[in-house]
Amino acid sequence: VSTISVGDLARRMGIKASEVISALMRLGVLATLNQALDVDTAALIAADFGYEVEQAMTEELELEALQEQESEMGGEALPRPPVVTVMGHVDHGKTSILDAIRKTDVVAGEAGGITQHIGAYHVQSPSGDLTFVDTPGHAAFTEMRSRGAKVTDIVVLVVAADDGVMDQTKEAIAHSKAADVPIVVAVNKIDKDSADPERVKRELSDFGLIPEEWGGTTIFCETSAKKGIGIEDLIESIQLQAEILELRADALRRAKGTVIEAQLHKGRGPVATVLVQEGTLHPGDNFVAGNYSGKVRTLTNERGEQVQAAGPSIPVEVQGLSGVPQAGDEFVVLTDEKMAKSVASARQLKARETELASASKVSLENLFEKI
Ligand code: GTP
Ligand code: MG
Repeated sequence: VSTISVGDLARRMGIKASEVISALMRLGVLATLNQALDVDTAALIAADFGYEVEQAMTEELELEALQEQESEMGGEALPRPPVVTVMGHVDHGKTSILDAIRKTDVVAGEAGGITQHIGAYHVQSPSGDLTFVDTPGHAAFTEMRSRGAKVTDIVVLVVAADDGVMDQTKEAIAHSKAADVPIVVAVNKIDKDSADPERVKRELSDFGLIPEEWGGTTIFCETSAKKGIGIEDLIESIQLQAEILELRADALRRAKGTVIEAQLHKGRGPVATVLVQEGTLHPGDNFVAGNYSGKVRTLTNERGEQVQAAGPSIPVEVQGLSGVPQAGDEFVVLTDEKMAKSVASARQLKARETELASASKVSLENLFEKI
C-alpha cells in the first residue's frame, strides 16, 4: 500500500514540515517527521494547502502508481498482432477495404455475427491476427498523437488507381512520417478500366514511398475492394511489415492501454473502447483512464460478446467508468482501488485549475481586444 512520509509530503509541497504537522494536528492526528501517511490522509492535508499542493500530489501519486506498475513481476514479451490504421483520400476506398478485410475474419464468419461499432476491431485471418483502429481517418490520428498516444503500428495508405495521389493522400503520408509509422500502400480500384497502378507508384515515389521492385522498401499491393481482389495479399503484406517491426508485449502484467473512443451511453453509463497495449485486462480490475477511475464491470468485444480477458493489441469496450475519458487518454490498471480514485481526483482538480486559468486568460484577452 502506498504511503508518503510527513517530511516527503512537505518537501514535495515546498512547505515546512512543521506546517504539515500542524495541519495533521487540526485533523486530530499527532505525527512525527518520519511518520508514514496513507494516500487519503496525505490528500486531505494536500487539500488544505491548495492548488500547488494538489499538483505535487498528482505527481507523487502518479510516480507511485508507476512504481507499483514497474515493480510488478511480469512474464515474457511475446509477439503481438499489429495495430493498423487505414488512411487515404476521400472515396479512394478506405471503408470498402476495411469491409473486405472484415469478411476474411474467421471468427466473424463462424459466428455470422453482426459487428458493432466500438471504434476498433480485431480480425483473425488465415495469415495471422490484426487489429484495425477504425477511426474516421486523419483527424482522429492526429488528435491522438497530439495527446501523446501512440496506438498505430502500421498505416495502410489507400490510393485509387484511377485517381492517383491527391491532397489527403499527401496529408496521410505527412502524418505517418511525423509519427514514424511505416506505410503499406494499397493501390485500390484496379478493376476499373481507367486504373493506372504504375502512375500511382511513380507519384508516390516522389514522396519517398518507393516500391520494392524499384529498389525501395515500401510494400505496394494492388487491390479491388469491390471485387475482393488482392485482399489476402494485403493482409499478408501487413503481417510482413509487422514482422520487421518485431512487435512484442507482455501479456502477464497488469493491463495498460489507450482510450480509442468514449461516450456516455443511455442506460449503460460511460463506456470506452480501450486498446490494450500491455498486459491483460479483466473484469474487476481497478483502473485510471484520464481524469477518471473505475472498476471494470464488463468487457465487450466488437461482436457484442462479453469476454473475460483482453490481452495485448485487443480492443474492448469497457463499462464501469466514473466518467467519460477522452480519446487518446492512457488507461492503466492499478491493484489499489483507493490509489486509482486518488489519482483520478487529483487529476480532475488539476484539470479544473487549468481550465479556470485558461478561462480567465481568455476573458482577459477578450477584454484587451475590446479596448
Ligand atoms: P470516405 O470515407 O468518404 O473518405 O470514402 P472511402 O475512402 O471510405 O471510400 P469508400 O470505401 O466509401 O468507397 C468510395 C466509392 O468507391 C464507393 O462507391 C465504392 O463502392 C467505390 N469503391 C471502393 N473500392 C472500389 C474498388 O476496388 N473498385 C471500384 N470499382 N470501386 C470501388
Ligand atoms: Mg469511408
